[in-house]
Amino acid sequence: MHHNRLTEQKIRQLKLEIISAYENLVIRSYSYIRFLIMNMRIIEELEQYLPQRGTVLDVGCGFGLFSFFFALSAKDRKIIGVEINANRIAAAEKVREKLGLDGRIEFHVSDVSNYPFEQPVNAIVVLDLLHHVSPKLALNMLDQFQQILHEDGILIIKDITAKPWLKMAFTWVLDKLMDFRGPLRYYTKEEMVSFVEERGFDVKIHRMIDILPYPHVLYICRKTTL
Ligand SMILES: C[S@@+](CC[C@H](N)C(=O)[O-])C[C@H]1O[C@@H](n2cnc3c(N)ncnc32)[C@H](O)[C@@H]1O
Repeated sequence: MHHNRLTEQKIRQLKLEIISAYENLVIRSYSYIRFLIMNMRIIEELEQYLPQRGTVLDVGCGFGLFSFFFALSAKDRKIIGVEINANRIAAAEKVREKLGLDGRIEFHVSDVSNYPFEQPVNAIVVLDLLHHVSPKLALNMLDQFQQILHEDGILIIKDITAKPWLKMAFTWVLDKLMDFRGPLRYYTKEEMVSFVEERGFDVKIHRMIDILPYPHVLYICRKTTL
């Protein structure tokens, strides 16, 4: 499969274009920090694995930062973003128009537990969502992803591991600051791997080294071919 490698300069330029499209200063600052946390290496890895064309489902897309990034970085991608928080989607819709992406990105306000995952997709990205939902919902989602993903499709999960505990404690504090009510459940790499493997995926793990104390892990999952 051929993949376009984005230069660091191009990644920086796209990040800036997206950040500056948010009118609200608080959201703009959040986006700036979010893009710092999701550092160059992580974005390069995501881009490397995502198909250049087809439909990408961005589950728990928040303000749509990565939906925009993936749409701007490859013109033949269509994106579907699903997010429970209506205010976040309202902000995302304004930015979508500003960036001229109305025809290429659909946003849906929905709890993933009610969202009808029906349409077949080429790729699914789940960026820092699984630790915010109940284990039951997380597993249920993985089952549904297996159903809607094309045979040669890719599921990319970016999450935080439960180890080392000090790094996890740091993330826990930040997560609680962002959303103090929601459940928080971090998994070890072994737990996450067995979840996806039990659901018929082959998985490759990328541990992301970071100067910030984040225990980032990328799980690159493809359907197991029997
Ligand atoms: C840590 S943020 C990550 C946002 C985005 N994926 C990113 O990487 O910037 C997690 C997002 O998941 C959303 N979320 C949490 N539970 C959800 C659910 N049950 N259904 C849909 N979205 C949910 C939150 O509202 C939040 O915007």
